[in-house]
Amino acid sequence: MNISDTAKKYIEQENKYGAHNYHPLPVVLSKGQGCYVWDVDGKKYFDFLSAYSAVNQGHCHPKIVKALIDQAETLCLTSRAFFNDTLGPYEEFIHNYFGYDKVLPMNTGAEGVETALKLARKWGYLKKSIPENEAIIVACEGNFHGRTITIVSISTDPDARDDYGPYTPGIEVIPYNDSAALSTFLEEKGDKVAGFLVEPIQGEAGVFVPDDGYLKECYDLCKKHNVLFIADEVQTGIARTGKLLCCEHENVRPDIVILGKAISGGVLPVSAVLADDDIILTIQPGQHGSTFGGFPLACKVATAALEVVKDENLVDRAEHLGKIFRDEMLKIDSPFIKDVRGKGLLNAIVIEPHNGKEAWDVCLVMAENGLLAKPTHGHIIRFAPPLIISEDELREAIGIIAMSVKSLEG
Ligand SMILES: Cc1ncc(COP(=O)(O)O)c(C=O)c1O
Repeated sequence: MNISDTAKKYIEQENKYGAHNYHPLPVVLSKGQGCYVWDVDGKKYFDFLSAYSAVNQGHCHPKIVKALIDQAETLCLTSRAFFNDTLGPYEEFIHNYFGYDKVLPMNTGAEGVETALKLARKWGYLKKSIPENEAIIVACEGNFHGRTITIVSISTDPDARDDYGPYTPGIEVIPYNDSAALSTFLEEKGDKVAGFLVEPIQGEAGVFVPDDGYLKECYDLCKKHNVLFIADEVQTGIARTGKLLCCEHENVRPDIVILGKAISGGVLPVSAVLADDDIILTIQPGQHGSTFGGFPLACKVATAALEVVKDENLVDRAEHLGKIFRDEMLKIDSPFIKDVRGKGLLNAIVIEPHNGKEAWDVCLVMAENGLLAKPTHGHIIRFAPPLIISEDELREAIGIIAMSVKSLEG
């Protein structure tokens, strides 16, 4: 891939002065608008990653940016030592938007997950009467919930987990997409299980969509054993899969919902944990928090970002455009494409190496042709454009993907 001297300068700077905890595609971006980004040489690309589904509303959405600027000129941060005039209205807005009694605001997705786990343990001790320090959280193989020590203790991915021990105890991992495994586990140890943590679709694992009925079966098992069903909707939530929350595909109302990424349209790190009073009020003043959690900028930005989701019908758009995307991907007759899967506009193709070329090579060629996507786990390419993409733009992007794959066939 051709890398300009200007781009090289930025890449070398990151390599020299930044920790090497990522392996980016060699593209240096400097501007974004809608479903497009531009690099430092002025080349335009379709963004088919959307910052891992954080930019559902499109880059630099004017309404969200205006909310940011207006509030930045007024009041940025108060901490929670005092009340302010943005948090209450935001909390009421979230209550009406998602239909949960209350919200606990945090910043990153990982903090949202940590909060949900703490909440589940509190509830387990205070409401379910699990003996002290014996609460269990059940999670799923292949999960991705973030990067904290507790969260990587749940991980089954060696890259995420290895050499970070000793690991947090009280977490057990069962196979994903296997409600019988959850049933067996809960039959054995259900009286000590506080929560079952699950991604409705495993995004980072490669957009693994579980079988129809899986989430509902797990939810029913949780109800049977008085276990909290905790949905990590950080990647799948906020319209991405063609529903406001992915669990709605199976009419499941989780006990705890974790949101992040697109709740701010990719403008600020904002996350949120939603639950009803009997769960969320088990955490009392002083028992959890964050200096920035629910800060005025976040409240205004997230409100604007969620309004955009409704104003611009992003739920229906994701559902409609997602079908077109998968249909068109399936029509590409190529030895590279082993599988196409996804829901709404969270999709992936599984790449079969061919001609000595792999998913990384496909992504490099797509970048050259003006479309950015990133491989996950070596052989899977996730496609998650901003949900504001038009049908014409989507079809143009599909053309680029098809042409790129074909050009590597040799
Ligand atoms: C399902 C899920 N949960 C949690 C996280 C962590 O979010 P963050 O990177 O904001 O900590 C991610 C990030 O990709 C995610 O996909």
